[in-house]
Amino acid sequence: MGKLDGKVAVVTGAAAGMGRATAIYLARQGAKVVAWDLGVDVEGKPLEKNPVDETVETIKEEGNEAIAFNGDVADMGDAENAIGTAIDTYGQLDILCTIAGFLRERMVFNMTEEEWDQVLRVHAKGTFAPTKFAAVHWRQRREYGRLISFTSGAWLGSPGQINYGSAKAAVVGFVRSTSAELVRYGVTTNAIAPSAATRMNDRSLAQQEAIRDGSPPPSTLAGGTHRDPFNLPPLITYLASPEGGNITGKVFMGEGWHYAIYSDPVKETNLWTDKPWDIDQLFERFRDTLGRGLTELEGRTAADVAAAGRDRVQAEIANAQKGS
Ligand SMILES: NC(=O)c1ccc[n+]([C@@H]2O[C@H](COP(=O)([O-])OP(=O)(O)OC[C@H]3O[C@@H](n4cnc5c(N)ncnc54)[C@H](O)[C@@H]3O)[C@@H](O)[C@H]2O)c1
Repeated sequence: MGKLDGKVAVVTGAAAGMGRATAIYLARQGAKVVAWDLGVDVEGKPLEKNPVDETVETIKEEGNEAIAFNGDVADMGDAENAIGTAIDTYGQLDILCTIAGFLRERMVFNMTEEEWDQVLRVHAKGTFAPTKFAAVHWRQRREYGRLISFTSGAWLGSPGQINYGSAKAAVVGFVRSTSAELVRYGVTTNAIAPSAATRMNDRSLAQQEAIRDGSPPPSTLAGGTHRDPFNLPPLITYLASPEGGNITGKVFMGEGWHYAIYSDPVKETNLWTDKPWDIDQLFERFRDTLGRGLTELEGRTAADVAAAGRDRVQAEIANAQKGS
């Protein structure tokens, strides 16, 4: 008996990495799967052939059920058709996993409008669009619905990835908001910040250096290790199953064989007055109240940090001039 017998799942990003692993694993657990992908590279550029068909072949070879859907997660028409495909083919939709995405890294001062828009589009709108049409169905059915949406540790802040970090924070806001909207229809919505060796990971600076030195991409060696993308789907399966029905609006982490749940943010220090703020009074009180214990810059100001950087650069220039 599978944990998801009789359930129908739509999985986005199902051609590669964790989306592929999730589609295959949910099918092993008895779900009928719509494997949805556009077939793009790690920066969102089209591949010659969409590998999502191979995911479906693998699922069928294992004796399980799936069909492919070729489309863009952030296109409203494609999203309506994908959810419609699940309902028309299998009679219902129970589980939606929004996993698709890509990266375009850049520091904020170099980032183009296009890089910002495309990354926000695929992760934030690519979560909204499928969920909207799933929610129409779930609201009519008033019985069962599970959204599991992929965020990233980058939602806590990630230099060089401001578009991605912002988009993944949007996913957290999305599941927390939809959880309050949809719980009355029997629907739970949660997010997972994963980590596994995939082509997305092969692209990090450390991995690229190793690959340049002749090492195979880590994603090709991950099978069976704690970096295997198949380590995530058991957690997804729990959240997607009837047992997971009391968990909503939460953010989980799944890194290898380690799962965790993030605490909900709380206000930890408060500062108030019983009348409109006097600006001098705020300046007087801030440091010992809201400002207490803020150690991020270890007592320095941002200007101190900039000055240290300037001194370092000037010393390097002086050294180079001495040497020339
Ligand atoms: N790999 C990690 O360690 C890691 C860490 C944190 C978060 N994540 C997140 O997990 C998810 C999966 O990452 P992965 O590493 O498996 O990536 P991956 O690059 O291996 O797979 C992503 C898949 O999404 C598909 N896709 C991209 N844009 C699409 C679109 N517009 N419409 C439909 N499909 C589209 C791609 O074709 C690809 O098959 C992503 O949301 C990613 O941001 C990954």
